[in-house]
Amino acid sequence: MKQGQASRTALAAAALRANHFQNTINPVFADPYAYDLTSRSWQKLLTSPRLVKLMNSPAFNRTLGLLSGQVVGRSRYAEDLLQQALASQINQYVLVGAGLDSFALRQNQRYPDLKIFEVDHPDTQAAKQQKLQQLDNIPANVEFVAIDFEKESLADALARSRYQQTAPGFFSWLGTTHYLEPQTTFNTLQHIASFAAPLSEVVLDYSIHYQALQGIERLGSFAVSQFTRFLSEPLVGQFRPAELHQTVRRMGFEVVEDLSGTAISERYFNQRPDHIRHTSATHLLHLRLM
Ligand SMILES: C[S@@+](CC[C@H](N)C(=O)[O-])C[C@H]1O[C@@H](n2cnc3c(N)ncnc32)[C@H](O)[C@@H]1O
Repeated sequence: MKQGQASRTALAAAALRANHFQNTINPVFADPYAYDLTSRSWQKLLTSPRLVKLMNSPAFNRTLGLLSGQVVGRSRYAEDLLQQALASQINQYVLVGAGLDSFALRQNQRYPDLKIFEVDHPDTQAAKQQKLQQLDNIPANVEFVAIDFEKESLADALARSRYQQTAPGFFSWLGTTHYLEPQTTFNTLQHIASFAAPLSEVVLDYSIHYQALQGIERLGSFAVSQFTRFLSEPLVGQFRPAELHQTVRRMGFEVVEDLSGTAISERYFNQRPDHIRHTSATHLLHLRLM
């Protein structure tokens, strides 16, 4: 991330969720707040009829639009699993690298007793809080916890909050490991394993190695890497699934599920007439602490 600036990829992710909500029939993930949360420049682009037409054309959905499928697919998966977790007595939700995720705005009436912790880089978090103030909407059950993963551990950051380490928590960590050195991701998972209570759950998405991709996916992955580099957030974290599983099992996690891009497409984007689907470049991983 650029020093002193809110995450630009977080703004881009909100813009993709806004476009998906506003311009898709039968959205995979519905985020009515994404438009308000993204930047003025993105809002301007999202109100350009020509660009909106292009961004929602079948040709775009099959190519660059794969990024959009990735962004809405990961949020849908995390919230599906969160709902299951809440039904099994988990009462704390930690959004690690929350960005402009609007769960707190969308769901606080449905889950008024849920304690929500938004953990993010201080620059992104300050910009989000300012936006929420403008919208006059800061839910009472949300606590904001600032962190720079490269400098501080999640355990230390959460220790400043009312997060209860004796009770299990549900952690989502979406769209972030791609921008961190793999060791930083491992360190963060190790910290969760050391402070979180048994039965805590983690959902995260991760990039697989660029060399494992083929055809349009390889090209698309290259295009995305150039785009995020341009946004000063280069993609530096990639993993081999089997090695990643082995490492997290050693930390004490059970690998409940690892969904490949194809499996995510089958689950959430099956036979869509608009051809939106998930990229093969990223996986979704569901872990549970034993
Ligand atoms: C692409 S955004 C994803 C946001 C959100 N989870 C989503 O799915 O839209 C990446 C997030 O990672 C956060 N991030 C990146 N590097 C970070 C760091 N070193 N410390 C803390 N947060 C970081 C950014 O602030 C941003 O919110």
